[in-house]
Amino acid sequence: MSKEIITLDHIDVVFEQKKRRIEAVKDVTIHINQGDIYGIVGYSGAGKSTLVRVINLLQVPTSGTIVVDEDVLFDEKKVQLTTTSLREKRRDIGMIFQHFNLMNQLTAEENVAFALKHSSLSKEEKKEKVKRLLDLVGLSERAENYPSQLSGGQKQRVAIARALANDPKILISDEATSALDPKTTKQILALLQELNQKLGLTVVLITHEMQIVKDIANRVAVMQDGNLIEEGSVLDIFSNPKKDLTKDFINTATGIEEALVKIEKQALVQNLPANSLLVQMKYAGNSTDEPILNQIYKRFEVTANILYGNIEILDGTPVGEMVVVLSGEKEALKEAQDAITQAGVSLHVLKEGK
Ligand SMILES: Nc1ncnc2c1ncn2[C@@H]1O[C@H](COP(=O)(O)OP(=O)(O)OP(=O)(O)O)[C@@H](O)[C@H]1O
Ligand SMILES: [Mg+2]
Repeated sequence: MSKEIITLDHIDVVFEQKKRRIEAVKDVTIHINQGDIYGIVGYSGAGKSTLVRVINLLQVPTSGTIVVDEDVLFDEKKVQLTTTSLREKRRDIGMIFQHFNLMNQLTAEENVAFALKHSSLSKEEKKEKVKRLLDLVGLSERAENYPSQLSGGQKQRVAIARALANDPKILISDEATSALDPKTTKQILALLQELNQKLGLTVVLITHEMQIVKDIANRVAVMQDGNLIEEGSVLDIFSNPKKDLTKDFINTATGIEEALVKIEKQALVQNLPANSLLVQMKYAGNSTDEPILNQIYKRFEVTANILYGNIEILDGTPVGEMVVVLSGEKEALKEAQDAITQAGVSLHVLKEGK
């Protein structure tokens, strides 16, 4: 078991306005382990940014407990870490954002160096460190460029280098790829993953795209209206989502919803014969190794016509989804469905032939 590095326990954040009271975060508890890439997903206004700003007390919660790397930042008696300790603690937590927040009048290297203003390193050491950081994010050649001379992806690389200047243990990424095109998004995600592996950096990743979670996270929390509605390993959540919102997010990431619309229009499906079933199957892990469709043909003479198939590797485990027309004798179809389920594949009948 890895060590727990972030604990948010029963966190509430309430914004009191003149006429309104906004409960941005409602009784949220999360545990993040060292080395996790922890995704937090939810639609706009769900409370994601507010929740992660609690981690470094940029947002003081209304109640709850915050523990970061064994230090209590805030407790149920609302006792806060002293200003000096908090300033030190915040160095352990880097942050990057959608709009990069670079200083336009400073070059890339000056932007990174700015984060070392309060460091005890000598001038030479600072220079050396900035060079190393820009190298780490793949931007050595653009050190002397101003933000206006850099692309979005390059600006985000500068922001990442700056966030890493004080050797943080945690990097919080709040929609850091939202302003980038898909290819650049992939590159930045690959960089975050590399930093996670190389430096053991814990990454807290806010996004509204489940695809991003799927690509690099190992755990995920889903937020809705200030509540944490579902939480777990990426593999568990993707193979067995419980809440409708989670299913919505997953469907947009897998493309199954779109595929189903197209499948429904096919002549074979519209005029599904009496001895046929349209089924959706899902499997995780070893079931993918089982040639189950071969088996049901050999054992029950049930044929499978695959209309859609998709296999992905989630956190190292294959997860597959198929839409298939099964055809055979009535009894044989029943037996085949049982055999499929027994092989650890979840099966859902979408349509019965008439
Ligand atoms: N300082 C504030 N004062 C008053 N209300 C706030 C404040 N900050 C956030 N809120 C409200 O809290 C709720 C949650 O906001 P938050 O920014 O955490 O959502 P989010 O999930 O990050 O959304 P997005 O995806 O759009 O960034 C919203 O209703 C927002 O208007
Ligand atoms: Mg936000």
